[in-house]
Amino acid sequence: MSKEVTIAAEERHQPSADDIIDLAISILSDGRDHPELWNEIPVFLLHFPDFPALLLQRRLLEANAETQVHISLVHCIALAESGPLDAAFDAIEDIAITHSQSALVQGALFHLHSLKDPENPKFQLAGKICNAPFQQMDVLEESTHLCCASWLQQSAGDLSKTDWQSVWNSDMAQDIRASIHDGSYRFCNKMACPKIQTNTLVPAEEIAKETPLWDAIVADQLTAMPVGPEVVNLAYDRTCNLSCPSCRSEKYAADSETRARYEEMQRERILPMLKDAKTVFVTGSGDPFASKNFRRLMSELTPDDYPELGFQIMTNGMLFTPKQWEAFPSLHGRVRMLKISVDAATGPTHELLRRGAYWPTMLENMRFAGDLTKDGLVDQFDLIFVVQQENFREMGDAIDLAKQVGATGVYFARITNWGTFSDAEFSRKAVCMPSHPDHGEFIEAMQDERLRDPMVMLGDLNEFLAEPVTATRAFVG
Ligand SMILES: C[S@@+](CC[C@H](N)C(=O)[O-])C[C@H]1O[C@@H](n2cnc3c(N)ncnc32)[C@H](O)[C@@H]1O
Ligand code: SF4
Ligand code: SF4
Repeated sequence: MSKEVTIAAEERHQPSADDIIDLAISILSDGRDHPELWNEIPVFLLHFPDFPALLLQRRLLEANAETQVHISLVHCIALAESGPLDAAFDAIEDIAITHSQSALVQGALFHLHSLKDPENPKFQLAGKICNAPFQQMDVLEESTHLCCASWLQQSAGDLSKTDWQSVWNSDMAQDIRASIHDGSYRFCNKMACPKIQTNTLVPAEEIAKETPLWDAIVADQLTAMPVGPEVVNLAYDRTCNLSCPSCRSEKYAADSETRARYEEMQRERILPMLKDAKTVFVTGSGDPFASKNFRRLMSELTPDDYPELGFQIMTNGMLFTPKQWEAFPSLHGRVRMLKISVDAATGPTHELLRRGAYWPTMLENMRFAGDLTKDGLVDQFDLIFVVQQENFREMGDAIDLAKQVGATGVYFARITNWGTFSDAEFSRKAVCMPSHPDHGEFIEAMQDERLRDPMVMLGDLNEFLAEPVTATRAFVG
């Protein structure tokens, strides 16, 4: 609980309901989740039983749209604490759709779920450690994240302008790590994060046993890291051969000036940083085989110069041909994980959702990836399936497909709005939302026995199983 709220709750000068609302607004204005505030709402209700009505009155007087949202969130939690939970879920639903990437809004929604299912251990974050912010750096065009940027939007700095050591241990990077130590996870999108949703975060005392460094991180609550990132995700170049509607409105390729900028960043900061890294992830932004910068970088990361380094390759698969594979000897035997995004089990759905793709080529390339995996040149090979209105009926068949092509895993995730859809379009796509007309059918599709196969990772869809499973293999994002 923050100091200010504690003082307020202790009635030093008997704060009014307006004082409490002012304080809540000021706390939430940073856009981060504040579970300590949610936990205090029953105390406010004790003092002000009409707190929900007072919040609605206050919202009417508020001109700023973001502040209105913040008041609405407090109102939803107050509703949940003082009446039937369904009313609170109804009240938050529209905000959750329009703010699907907000750590604050998704944190409030997460708190509502915790009230519905209080015994579920996934809601207990204090005392658990996520390793990502202590080991991972995701480099975007002008921001750098200590986890996948779609789950942890807050940037720790700009690697295109700053040396990597200053970004890695910036004040913001340290605030993010502090939020893991204090159990608030306030920067994380708790509804989207697969580790939170599948309860695969590790108890602090267990992770402390792994290495002397982890022991020090836990014992001393370290926020400044004495070593560089182990996992580096390169996600600055959006160049791609496809233009999937979930990801972009039109095709994009970096121009020569942009490519020169990337080249400089790769030479000056990324290559030196990778000297001590264990895994480089190419890429969460565009396609590794369509980007000239990534192609060059992958060639430069030879086993002689980077003996400890392994690759995670994420691709749409269309260019993953035997000829391309031969062009990258630096990948041979060093791909720890190959992820191919498929989003379908049939040609028409695939070509609709992966705009520019051609299903027969995709099938051929997936089989080739399966052969490489069988031959030990690739360690693991996952298909990725982003669930949306057009493909949810193919989820079970995608597991059969994965087995046919020799994949070792299938990872499902719900679609989020990356700004390519209007709110109305996104509501039509987001079949995971209870208000979606096909949601009931989606829940039925989730009960398909094939989804319980150990090769399947359900991430943020786990909650839709009648009996949720504990992930057998954590997704490495
Ligand atoms: C942006 S792509 C980059 C890598 C590669 N081009 C690919 O498609 O696998 C990274 C992942 O994001 C997924 N994705 C695309 N749009 C998404 C959205 N709106 N919500 C969630 N995931 C999305 C893709 O399916 C893919 O698995
Ligand atoms: S979003 Fe999830 S994976 Fe990322 S830092 Fe937070 S808990 Fe870890
Ligand atoms: S293939 Fe990947 S990067 Fe390219 S448009 Fe589709 S989702 Fe985006």
